[in-house]
Amino acid sequence: MTQAAPLFEVRDISRNFGPVQALNGVSLALDKGETHSVIGENGAGKSTLMNIICGKLRPSSGSIHVDGRAVEFHSPLDAQMHGIAIAPQEINLVPHLSVAENILLGAHRGRAAAIDWRATYTDAAFYLHEVDDSIDPRMPVRELSKAQQQLVQIARAAATRARIIIFDEPTAALTWRETEKLMRYIRKVTSEGRSAFYISHRLDEVRELSQRITVLRDGMNVGAIPPQEATRERMVSLMAGRPPKAGRQPIRHLDEAETILDVRNLGREHEFRDVSFTLRKGEILGVSGLIGSGRSEMAKCLFGATRADTGTVALEGRETRFRAPLDAIRAGLIYLPEERKQEGIFPLLSIAENTALPTLDRFSGWLRIRNRDMLNEVGALARQMKAKFGRLGDPITSLSGGNQQKFIIARWLMREAKVLIMDEPTRGIDVNAKLEIQTVLRRLTEERGLSIILISSEMEELLDVADRILVMHEGEVKGCVNRDGTTQERLLELAMS
Ligand SMILES: Nc1ncnc2c1ncn2[C@@H]1O[C@H](COP(=O)(O)OP(=O)(O)OP(=O)(O)O)[C@@H](O)[C@H]1O
Ligand SMILES: [Mg+2]
Repeated sequence: MTQAAPLFEVRDISRNFGPVQALNGVSLALDKGETHSVIGENGAGKSTLMNIICGKLRPSSGSIHVDGRAVEFHSPLDAQMHGIAIAPQEINLVPHLSVAENILLGAHRGRAAAIDWRATYTDAAFYLHEVDDSIDPRMPVRELSKAQQQLVQIARAAATRARIIIFDEPTAALTWRETEKLMRYIRKVTSEGRSAFYISHRLDEVRELSQRITVLRDGMNVGAIPPQEATRERMVSLMAGRPPKAGRQPIRHLDEAETILDVRNLGREHEFRDVSFTLRKGEILGVSGLIGSGRSEMAKCLFGATRADTGTVALEGRETRFRAPLDAIRAGLIYLPEERKQEGIFPLLSIAENTALPTLDRFSGWLRIRNRDMLNEVGALARQMKAKFGRLGDPITSLSGGNQQKFIIARWLMREAKVLIMDEPTRGIDVNAKLEIQTVLRRLTEERGLSIILISSEMEELLDVADRILVMHEGEVKGCVNRDGTTQERLLELAMS
């Protein structure tokens, strides 16, 4: 008896970048209506594989089969002709064009000379509405948040009417509410007979969504896990090739520690109101909340990027009023913004240059460590975070998404500061590397007395590492709890109260 060929298949795919073997003999298949997740640590080869499947990259060897027939993709357009589209990991939209234009770029109704704009908008609005009904298709893309941009990329992939949609870390920038919406959307499109490749470091999503889970490690397919057997332990073990370490940092009691930052009744119109909290020396204060909770706005205001309308901030007992980020930096406060990808990477420079020559240094002038020491420190931090890289002189763009992120974190951890504000620092970073980063953060608080405000959409992460957790909702502080004895349910409950 002959078995029907799968809808889609890659066989024995390899790909190298110079000496780096990103993929090594990978085979996998996708059936109609199936969600097939591909998981693996940062640098395992997931995006490389997906970029080959959608025609952006050519394999060094191996073959691709659609409906049982061998095909060759010379460009993304070839893949699109076979019904394959990708919502890529990195934002890849034209910022000054509208959402609708971005969605239908290359798929306009009508001839180039006579584009039917009304139909274009209607179409775009339809696909966008399916994914998220809160985004205005007429808005220029640059005015959207990172999360919204990611959703627009998904609508763009769907608008090609693809039979196979690749989601490469679609939820990295999303909070749980938008994530749930997206999960519903993916279930809907697959129930209609489309298929999906799904990439995520959030293993709960992977288990919930997939009919098949394939694990890549060092560019190789090291096995599939049936979703019903896909415990977190099993997935992490197969990804790493060894059993997972225990996650949680030990509980500390810092009640006696001096207050470094005292924020009272801070407010800014339309953003957040009456925010009060203290940060202790050596403490990690987690901040939990949904998009729109005012967390990032509050952080920007603390850093002097925006002005508060009400309230006071005292640093080490002295009331401060930062008129600009430079004032904050001079006073010992630094800030790792959420939108660092657009603001934070110099694509033409090397890994070392990107890490060691940040703008902050040019302005702040308190570069006390020498360059060589600095590079040694970059290397040491990178290794601790399990960054996968060739040499520090390689271009930053040769790193996988998660590994770029590790160097951006390293850049900020190397600054000398009293208070470090981090907005979603571990987005797109794999489970094990996240634990390593948490260990590094804890060490810095203990060795240097650094105090950290850690904004994260992942409650699990806050429960792993924060000493206390501030819960914000719709611009207000709903509570501040000790990590000891707190659960995810409790945090949600507080947010909703
Ligand atoms: N353009 C490139 N030049 C050189 N090396 C590259 C390039 N693109 C990817 N690589 C290397 O190939 C390997 C796989 O990268 P890939 O982006 O596929 O990883 P990934 O599994 O998607 O990781 P992440 O979870 O961090 O997104 C990495 O070691 C990376 O450094
Ligand atoms: Mg990737």
